[in-house]
Order: sequence, then C-alpha cells, then structure tokens
Amino acid sequence: MEKDFWHERWHRGEIGFHRSDIHWALNRHWSEISGSSTQRVLVPLCGKSLDLRWLARRGHDVVGIELSGGAIEAFYRDWGKEPDREARGALERWQAGQVEIHEGDFFDFEADSPYPRFYDRAALVALPAAMRQTYLVHLRSLLADDAAGLLVTFEYAQDAMDGPPFSVMPDELDACAAFEFELLERRDVLAEHPGFAERGLTALHECAWRVTCR
Ligand SMILES: C[S@@+](CC[C@H](N)C(=O)[O-])C[C@H]1O[C@@H](n2cnc3c(N)ncnc32)[C@H](O)[C@@H]1O
Repeated sequence: MEKDFWHERWHRGEIGFHRSDIHWALNRHWSEISGSSTQRVLVPLCGKSLDLRWLARRGHDVVGIELSGGAIEAFYRDWGKEPDREARGALERWQAGQVEIHEGDFFDFEADSPYPRFYDRAALVALPAAMRQTYLVHLRSLLADDAAGLLVTFEYAQDAMDGPPFSVMPDELDACAAFEFELLERRDVLAEHPGFAERGLTALHECAWRVTCR
C-alpha cells in the first residue's frame, strides 16, 4: 500500500482495525511463544495497539514501528505517558515506559541488535501480495536465528472482498523461504466482523501461527 493511504486513514479516523481490547491470539498463545522469558519484542506496523501495553505489562521491552506520528502520539496520550523523542537513522524514536515506537517506514528500520521475539497482528495482512514477501524478508533480517513470533492472519475468498486486510492462505506462508509457520488456532470470526459480511464475505477465519526462522 502507498504510505499516503495509511496517513489518510489515520487523518480521517478510518481505523476500524484498531481494537479496544487485547487480541485473543495474544491472550491465548503468547506464552507458547515467549515461555517465561521477557525478551525484547518487535512489533511491525503497530498502530496504537493496546497489545503493546499488554506485552510491556508482561515484562517485555517492546519496540514498535509505525508510519503515522498521529497514531504514536495517540498511543502515548491514551496511556497517560509523556514520551521522549529523538532522531534514529531515517526514523524518529518515541519512548516511554517499556515501549518505544519508531516513526517511519518499516522497510527503513534497522535493528541495533537482532530481535528474539516478534508479534504481527494486522501487519502482514495489511500489505498487498506484491509486498508481503519483501516484508517477510525484511522482518527476518531484523531477527536472531533462534527468534520466534506470533503471527495473526485472515483467511477469506480474496475475490469476494478487496483488502486491506488481505487474505493470506497457508500455501503463501509455505512458500516463504525465511520462516516456518505452525498453526496454533484457526477461528471462525465472521460474526465478529459484520462490516466484512456487508462487503460480501460469507466465510472469514482468523489464524494464529507460531513463526520460527528457517
Ligand atoms: C491494519 S493497521 C494495524 C495496526 C496494529 N498492528 C493493530 O493491530 O492495531 C496497519 C498499520 O501499519 C501502518 N503501516 C503501513 N505501512 C507501513 C510501513 N511501511 N511502515 C510502518 N508502518 C506502516 C499503518 O499506518 C497502520 O497503522
């Protein structure tokens, strides 16, 4: 997607992807990814997700990357925190508590050291097919060889509705040379997304995947 598309959505408040609760996959499956460790967690395309705060409460240092400065400002304001800000390469780093968010393009983000854990909810599925393999390759470049992550995808008939969110089917994940994907849970979520049914979907599943590096 073009960056302007996302800036425009934030500007207009068209952020139906933002949740006012913690994502079910994080609640149910994060401990299978993190064990009892509190290692640093990378969260690409993080928006102003409350999941960042949940991960911080679990003791993780959390590092998000987000294009929209307005989203980042809203995240810290809603949290009641006053972030410090500084330039970091091509991006700007905001930081308060255990959450830092780098404002800018994920594809310009470089890791100071490899990340051991990551969480992707509504990041991969926010990107059109032509960008998804590039995204996965860049994500892999930021991770340690023994890194693990939790990925959440949508599955639906792509010809019935335009993304985002895009449908990501298992064969696409299987074709990824960078990662292995293990399905943890697949849920029927059509009833929770009446807007998608109005847009033409008759079936919608959300999948939680454990992701490890090949
Ligand atoms: C569908 S939203 C999901 C946000 C968040 N993960 C959540 O669960 O609420 C996708 C987010 O990615 C951001 N984004 C899109 N392209 C990006 C890029 N190239 N680099 C950084 N952020 C990007 C958008 O501004 C938007 O906030």
